Amino acid sequence: MKQSRFDEIIDRRNSGCYKYDALKMLFGKSELIPLWVADMDFSVSDEIISALSNRIKHPVFGYNLHLNDFYEAIISWQQRRFDWAVRKDWIIAVPGLVPALSLAVLSLTEQGDGVLIQTPVYRPFYDAVIDHKRKLITSPLVNSNGVYNIDWQDFEEKLKKAKLFIFCSPHNPVCRVWTQDELTKIGNLCAKYKVPIFSDEIHADIVYPGYRHIPLASLKDFSNICITGVSPSKSFNIAGLATAVVIVSNAEIRNKFNELNTKLHLYMGNTFGIRALIAAYNESEGWLEELLCYLNKSRIYITEFVHNELSKVILSPIEGTFLAWLDFRNWDLPDAELQEIMINKAGLALEPGTEFGKDGEGFMRLNFGCPQSILKLALKRLQILAKEYE
Ligand SMILES: Cc1ncc(COP(=O)(O)O)c(C=O)c1O
Repeated sequence: MKQSRFDEIIDRRNSGCYKYDALKMLFGKSELIPLWVADMDFSVSDEIISALSNRIKHPVFGYNLHLNDFYEAIISWQQRRFDWAVRKDWIIAVPGLVPALSLAVLSLTEQGDGVLIQTPVYRPFYDAVIDHKRKLITSPLVNSNGVYNIDWQDFEEKLKKAKLFIFCSPHNPVCRVWTQDELTKIGNLCAKYKVPIFSDEIHADIVYPGYRHIPLASLKDFSNICITGVSPSKSFNIAGLATAVVIVSNAEIRNKFNELNTKLHLYMGNTFGIRALIAAYNESEGWLEELLCYLNKSRIYITEFVHNELSKVILSPIEGTFLAWLDFRNWDLPDAELQEIMINKAGLALEPGTEFGKDGEGFMRLNFGCPQSILKLALKRLQILAKEYE
């Protein structure tokens, strides 16, 4: 069978990479299969390599200015992939969506204000609220046999007390790609209670057949209440280049956000990140399509494997992202022990569900952005564990 480019095993150790080089520090051992932090073990597209190599030939690396080609690449991508017409003056460059979460909280709310999130969710959503002394309001997603849905009544009640809603779309870690109906309902409720939305759409490009990512701001007049976070960092595997943008059509919200971003001097960007973003959006669509086919095969493999071999583990349907959300509660182990056996018996570094909040207890997140040979090895190790714990 013809090998895919994504089958190549790249030795990332000692490249100053968090996923491998922090294993000993964070998991106590370095010889583990790292399937935790959300970057992929794949080489970036040839087009990105070539854009970066070309930039390196120019021997000066001073401060940057985002030229038209940066904005045009983003505008064209949103139009082509998501049918969303974005204007250049709506786009603000940021070093990442995690800093953008804090910028939104700081610029749109005051200390003590309520900020709503839907849990379980990516840890920095909690931190952006708590670290800045805002009041964390949670509306837990309802899990029925692995499928997560919004409790609309609870969401509406909580929204009444919030000054900002931080939304994850597609959702990390529960893998939901929200439907148009759900998005419309969310937008209508936030508009009704005048609550602006930070819509983190970093996983927008990784969505599987049968599902479609719709930017929340592209629906109805929701653009007026949305700060949309987008970035090529997950989809094109360039998280280390620290380049993302927020898109805000509402001038009042945009000015508040922009003022803080400018004051903190976060707007100038990374020389290589800028070039990589342009090469990703303008030239690497073919690479992304290949990646989506590969990840889709991995996703089908995991789904069947869990169903056939890990009968007591529940996998949430993977609608989007390269992250599988696994429910180990039937193994009936305290979280510390679950983590301990993953590390010491299975040799796996998975992201513990508790990282995503209280409703992640008993869960593990598995990053399948790796060659399928590695994924299969990791699943085999889980199967051996299952013999002991199921
Ligand atoms: C929902 C979500 N937002 C943001 C990020 C990270 O964003 P950045 O690297 O741009 O700060 C991640 C990374 O996993 C994520 O899952």
